[in-house]
Order: sequence, then structure tokens, then C-alpha cells
Amino acid sequence: MRSDKVVSMPSATPAPQQTTGVCEEHGQFPQKVNVIFGKEFKTGCPECSRIRIEEESARAEAQETQALRMRMAQKLGSALIPKRFAGKTFDGYIAETPEQQKALSTCMRYAADFKQIAAAGRCLLLLGKPGTGKTHLSVAIANEIMAKSSASAVYRTIGSVLQAIRATYDRSSDQSESQILSSLISPSLLILDEIGVSKEKPSDFELTTLFAIINGRYEEQRPTVIVSNLDAKALPNAMGERCADRLREGGVIVIPFEWESQRGKEGF
Ligand SMILES: Nc1ncnc2c1ncn2[C@@H]1O[C@H](COP(=O)(O)OP(=O)(O)OP(=O)(O)O)[C@@H](O)[C@H]1O
Ligand SMILES: [Mg+2]
Ligand SMILES: [Zn+2]
Repeated sequence: MRSDKVVSMPSATPAPQQTTGVCEEHGQFPQKVNVIFGKEFKTGCPECSRIRIEEESARAEAQETQALRMRMAQKLGSALIPKRFAGKTFDGYIAETPEQQKALSTCMRYAADFKQIAAAGRCLLLLGKPGTGKTHLSVAIANEIMAKSSASAVYRTIGSVLQAIRATYDRSSDQSESQILSSLISPSLLILDEIGVSKEKPSDFELTTLFAIINGRYEEQRPTVIVSNLDAKALPNAMGERCADRLREGGVIVIPFEWESQRGKEGF
């Protein structure tokens, strides 16, 4: 049987006492005095403590902003977007015809939904005539996702990739082929421009390299944007059927650019 008798125990921390403290800055404030094992602990000025917390969080916020700015600069630096296109945005794209509006809105949606696009590994093909703004819109997608999310993007022409890989065969090269390939496979988004520029059949080297990149990204389920003057029918010939097949998985989005060139509209 247990006893219901209440036994009062001597406490090491008696109830705090209320007094009035004085802060040099803020004057009087209600102060608690705790006595713990015979030692007095007084609470400080609440206004001082509020100011301290505010300063601390402002400092943390400034540090965060600075870190964000540095990450952004780093991302932009490694995106390798050519100077001519670095500033291209959706805002700067003039859509006058329904086809141009469709191209613009599809690219804007691709960037806005990039989280889901990336999860599904959905590729995008910008195909069509010269000077219609394919590179412009592809770079605008890269700029948008880098600015609005933690995603990274890299822009390369296939020609520059092949040249960079060839350069690694030089003994004095400080980069290896696999380093170049992994720099193209690891970003959240890769934009590969100027596919199939030469009218000749692609070389084995070109096809092997393209497959290594596209298949590498496919295995990691990362989407790729392909930019080309070829149409959807001719593209598999220029990339190899196995590449094209991997691009289709996840539901590829194809935008045709079939209007006249917007370069120097007066023209010659
Ligand atoms: N609708 C548009 N609104 C504003 N600028 C545009 C538009 N279309 C193209 N431009 C501009 O025209 C120039 C050529 O566009 P861009 O290089 O993107 O064309 P492209 O389709 O990639 O051509 P190519 O197939 O020859 O590479 C760029 O400076 C681009 O910003
Ligand atoms: Mg282009
Ligand atoms: Zn104070």
C-alpha cells in the first residue's frame, strides 16, 4: 500500500525573487533573481537582449546573402554562356506571332516547372531556322533556373565540347576527357547547341562523345536541352538513334522555330 502523505523536500532552486534591475541604456526593468546552490543569478535587461538577438540575426542574414551571391557568381561562371548571350532573358524575347508566343511560353514553363522536369528527366528540343531565337531562349532558361533555384546549368556548343576533348589528347593538357564529360553530366541542366551543323555525316568521334554525354545524363536522370537547325526527323541521324531514343524518354518537348531570322531584320 502506498502512502498518500506529502513529504516536502528541500529544494536546491527556490522560487526566483522579483526585483527591479537598472540598465544604463534602458533604465529600470523587472528582474528575476535565482539562487542556485547559494549563488545569485540575475536576469539581464530584456531590451538589451532583444537588441543583441536582432543584431545577431541581421549578421547571419548578411552572411547568407553574401554566400548566396558568391554561389550565384560561381554558377554563372561555370555556366560558360557566351558573352553575346549572357544577358538574354524571357523578358527580352519579342513574341509577335502565335508560333513565337508558343515557343516563349513553352520555354518559360520549362524553367518554371524545372523541379518536376528535372525529376522526370524531361528533355527539350529547340529545332529550326537560323536567327529565330533558339539560343536566346535556351540561355534564358539557364539564366532563369540559376537565378530562381539552386539548380546549375551549363551551355556548350557541341563543337566546343569536341574541341575541348581533342585538346585533352595533348600530353601537356591539364584536363582529362573524363573531367570534361563529368562537367557536362553533373549540372542540373545541360544545353547542347549547334547539333548537326555540318551537313556531312557525323564522325564516329562525334557520335561516341554525344552518346557518352546524353547517356551519362540519362543514367543520372538529368534533362538536356538540344538546340539544332535540323528538324525532328533529321536529328536522330545527326546524333545517333540511341541518343535520340534516350532524349525521348520522360516525354520530350519539341519546339519548332520555323519563322524568318530575327538577326538584323533589315537584312541583305
Ligand atoms: N523574338 C526575338 N526577340 C528578341 N530577340 C530575338 C528574337 N529572336 C531572335 N532574337 C535575337 O536575334 C539574335 C539571333 O538569335 P539566336 O542566336 O538565338 O538564334 P538561333 O535560332 O540560335 O540561330 P542559329 O540557328 O543560327 O544559331 C540574338 O541576338 C537574339 O537575341
Ligand atoms: Mg543559335
Ligand atoms: Zn538595456
